[in-house]
Amino acid sequence: MLSFEEESQATAAMPQAGNGTASTHKRVNAADKRIINAKTDVNQLVPFKYKWAWEKYLATCANHWMPQEVNMTRDIALWKSPDGLTEDERRIVKRNLGFFVTADSLAANNIVLGTYRHITAPECRQFLLRQAFEEAIHTHAYQYIVESLGLDEGEIFNAYNEVKSIRDKDEFLIPFIEAIMDPDFHTGTPETDQTLLKSLIVFACLMEGLFFYVGFTQILALGRQNKMTGAAEQYQYILRDESMHCNFGIDLINQLKLENPHLWTPAFKDEIKALFLKAVDLEYAYAEDTMPRGVLGMNASMFKGYLRYIANRRATQIGLEALFPNEENPFPWMSEMIDLKKERNFFETRVIEYQSGGALSWD
Ligand SMILES: [Fe+2]
Ligand SMILES: [Fe+2]
Repeated sequence: MLSFEEESQATAAMPQAGNGTASTHKRVNAADKRIINAKTDVNQLVPFKYKWAWEKYLATCANHWMPQEVNMTRDIALWKSPDGLTEDERRIVKRNLGFFVTADSLAANNIVLGTYRHITAPECRQFLLRQAFEEAIHTHAYQYIVESLGLDEGEIFNAYNEVKSIRDKDEFLIPFIEAIMDPDFHTGTPETDQTLLKSLIVFACLMEGLFFYVGFTQILALGRQNKMTGAAEQYQYILRDESMHCNFGIDLINQLKLENPHLWTPAFKDEIKALFLKAVDLEYAYAEDTMPRGVLGMNASMFKGYLRYIANRRATQIGLEALFPNEENPFPWMSEMIDLKKERNFFETRVIEYQSGGALSWD
């Protein structure tokens, strides 16, 4: 855990306090800004250099939503009805929540306690602050679904310790959070800059960009069959947020690479490729565990193709070759979900329920 002293080190390149006209500080020149290891003042958002980060910050704010705005009444009735869902469908819902109730806390902690202090571009910090809040909204959404359905909280919140396919994914991620959270960790050498870059790639491309996709597809497939539509609606908004996080992360990685080309060595690329292959295996194991049989017109082996397709896309987005050439997308409808526009009657299609899940009467 990070102490207050370590937090205070996060403010890099703080200028000396000025004393009237005798102040010696230099005004920020946009051209001097850097993604990492900048000498410019991180407290000054403008002059802008990384306009793409600011635009993405504005876009995420335009997508604002809150979980309790989604009515869960139909989901609750379906969940409580003995014939509402099959056992396999219930397993999907519980495993999904089991992974996500803690996954977004990991994502939030990674940003707040890890990534944020190492990024010296204030436009990017602005996006990360918004992203951290969105991760809180996502944890809130999953908690709201758990509470609405009256699931066993102990079972769901401990799944990341108790369900192997979930634990394995988290164990893959945690070392990359711990490495950059360590108070003794600082960027500024090729090795430590590579450690940070690796962590950014693992989170944007493999966690938000891959580990979320079996779960999202499963819940959205339920929604497409008119089941668990409140949960599916929330997952749709989360998917939209996550695809923005993933795209921001990829832009950040590419800009960092552009400014520090010496980090992108053949050995480093090989290391990243091996992480991609490991992540695809872990997510495939999760698909098999959550779908022991075919369900909702899907089965685990369809996800092998899907995960390879997504991994290719993430790899090429950061300048690596496709790892599995010629994979096709078996779920083209997922692309439409990702492109969900707010204009799609976001607030008109449903009654907004402002009471909290706990305050509503379900019986
Ligand atoms: Fe999230
Ligand atoms: Fe995220």
